[in-house]
This record gives sequence, C-alpha cells and structure tokens, in this order.
Amino acid sequence: MTDDRDKTTGKEHIKKFSFQSRKNEQEKVEILIPELLQAGYSFYTWPSAHFLASFLYNQRDSLRDKNILELGSGTALPGILCAKLGARVTLSDCSTLPKTQNHIKHSCFLNNLNVGTDINVVGLTWGLLSHNLFQLGALDFIISSDCFYDPTVFEDILVTVTFLLERNPTCKFIFAYQERSADWCLENLLRKWGLKCANINTDRLGENTIVDTHGTGGVVGGSNPSLHLFEITLE
Ligand SMILES: C[S@@+](CC[C@H](N)C(=O)[O-])C[C@H]1O[C@@H](n2cnc3c(N)ncnc32)[C@H](O)[C@@H]1O
Repeated sequence: MTDDRDKTTGKEHIKKFSFQSRKNEQEKVEILIPELLQAGYSFYTWPSAHFLASFLYNQRDSLRDKNILELGSGTALPGILCAKLGARVTLSDCSTLPKTQNHIKHSCFLNNLNVGTDINVVGLTWGLLSHNLFQLGALDFIISSDCFYDPTVFEDILVTVTFLLERNPTCKFIFAYQERSADWCLENLLRKWGLKCANINTDRLGENTIVDTHGTGGVVGGSNPSLHLFEITLE
C-alpha cells in the first residue's frame, strides 16, 4: 500500500491524493490524509471517500463559496478537498468520538487549513437534535461517504439530513455509497421522512480528471461497480 512518496511515521500513515484536470495542469490539488490503520473505521479513508472526492473535483466550478457540511467525515478527504476548492466547509463526526475529531483537525493541519478560520470541525451525532446541529448556518450541500454502512444507522442519518434540508430547502445531500448487501434499502425511510433520492451518473467521471492515489490502491469511477453516488432532496 505504500510507495516512496508516502511517509510512515510510527503508526500513522500519510496518503497523498492528487486531483488534476486533463485540460489544465495548473488545477492540480494535492491532499494529504493521515491514517491510523488499526484504530477504527474513522481513521481509514474508505473507497467511497475517494469516489465522492473525484466527483466533487469534477464539479469544482460550482463549489466555490458554497456552504458545505460533511457528515461522518472520518479522515475527511472529500470535505478537505472542497475547502481547497474554495468552499466554506464544516467537517463533522460523532460527538462521542473526540479522538476522531482530533484526527480530523490533524488532517486539516496537514493540508494547511486552520480550524476555525479556513474550515470548521464539529461533533454531530446522527439522529440527535443537538446544540451543534442547531448552530449550523445556511447550507448548499451536505456530503458524506460510506456512512450508510450499517442499516441500524440509516434512519438516524436521514433524521439529521431531513432536519437540515427543511432549514435549507434548496440544499442537496450528495453521498457515496458502497453496496455491501442487496437487501439494504432506503425506500421506506425516504417515504417516511418526505425525501427523494436520485442516482448520479458517474460513467464519465474519469474523462476530464486524473486522480492518483500514489500507489494506495484506490479505485475510482466505473472501475468499482460497488460504488454509487446519490443525491437526496426534499420531496
Ligand atoms: C465507514 S466510516 C467512513 C469515514 C469517511 N467518511 C470515509 O469515507 O473514509 C463511517 C464514519 O461515520 C462515523 N459515524 C459512525 N456512527 C456515527 C454516528 N452515529 N454519528 C455520526 N458519525 C458517525 C464514524 O466515526 C466514521 O467516521
């Protein structure tokens, strides 16, 4: 999983992700993501994160100055990329996981983003109508990658998303999903919470963009059929 461009310091492994336009080399963005490989779900960058980040890089012209919230950020590749592309970003993860939040702040630091000025990091637990949730400002996009990984949390995520979409009716929730079971389904929950979901076509994701994970084995676009992108909005 490593090559000579990766740095390994103690247990921390730093991955470099590069996003580059095929038309304009100057538009290259490099993101450094620290990982703690044995520490838990939130310290590893899941294939969905890379997939969502590739899509967001393709949409970079529409992200500038937009207000974006990332749910279940983990190592926060998509949210950090959005901040680098000029969006106003709030990264979030479970409020009972302070180590995860510190790790997110470390990811920001490695990418020269000052927490509190260039980017925000907050504790947000899905399904809880917490103080931090009420404190969020206007939103244009909510994003997440690999958060629908356990059916017991699906409704909690949608409760949080519905609350935020009702406060921001033009906001879109864009998320990357890795298919792990054909039995999992959001349909009833979407109906219950007054939401609609559309598949985002990613067939041409790689056409204008070169994405490189520097030997980390990442899979982008149509090359991994288990990865999907969806958009949820109010019904
Ligand atoms: C599979 S990891 C995905 C991490 C990252 N988005 C990625 O794709 O690399 C799921 C993330 O959701 C967070 N999470 C799990 N349960 C949560 C909850 N109830 N509320 C908020 N975040 C939660 C975890 O801490 C973890 O960062």
